[in-house]
Amino acid sequence: MNIAVFASGSGSNFQSLVEASEAGSLGAEISLLVCDRKDALVLERAKKHGIPTFVFTAKDYGSKAEFERKIIEQLRTHDAEFIALAGYMRLIGETLLKEYGGRIINIHPSLLPAFPGKDAIGQALEAGVKISGVTIHYVDEGMDTGGIIAQEAVPVLVDDDHKSLQQRIQAVEHDLYPRTVAQLLSKK
Ligand code: GRF
Repeated sequence: MNIAVFASGSGSNFQSLVEASEAGSLGAEISLLVCDRKDALVLERAKKHGIPTFVFTAKDYGSKAEFERKIIEQLRTHDAEFIALAGYMRLIGETLLKEYGGRIINIHPSLLPAFPGKDAIGQALEAGVKISGVTIHYVDEGMDTGGIIAQEAVPVLVDDDHKSLQQRIQAVEHDLYPRTVAQLLSKK
C-alpha cells in the first residue's frame, strides 16, 4: 500500500516513517510528501530519500477547497490510499475529508483531549501537569478531536523546560507513530 505524509516543518516524524518503510516494518511505501512551506526542512529529508513531493503555498489559491483539490489530484497520481499528518499546520477541510475520511490520522504531542491545538508542550508546562504524552488519532473536521487510536504517557520532570520535554515526547513519537501506522495498515 502507498501512503502520503503531510508535514510543514522539520519532519522528524516523517523521517521515522520513512526509515520504518525502508526497513520493511511499516508495511507501506511513502509515495508522496505534501508540504505547505517552500523552506521546510522536511523537503530536504524527502529529497535525500527520493520521495516525491507536492509543495504548495496556500495563498496562491482562492480557497482551501481549491488547494485540497490539487492535493487530491496528487494523491491519485501517486496512488496514496492513506494519509499520515506529521506536523502539518493546517486543519483538513471538507474537500479532503470527503475523499479520505477515516483514512487520515494525526500525531499530537499531548494526551488528548488535554491541550489540543498549538504548542501542546507549552500548554502542559503552563498547566503544571506531571504527566503528558503523545496521541495518535483519526482526523475529523475539528482541531485534534477525532477518535483516539493510540496514546503513550511521558512524565513531566520537575526541571523540564520546553526543549527537554519536547525531546522526550519526540523520542516517544518516533517509536509510536511507525508502530501504530503499521498496526492500522495490517488490518486493512
Ligand atoms: C510533532 O511533535 C507532532 O506531534 C506535532 O508536530 C510536531 C512535528 O514535529 N503534530 P516534526 O516536524 O515531525 O519534527
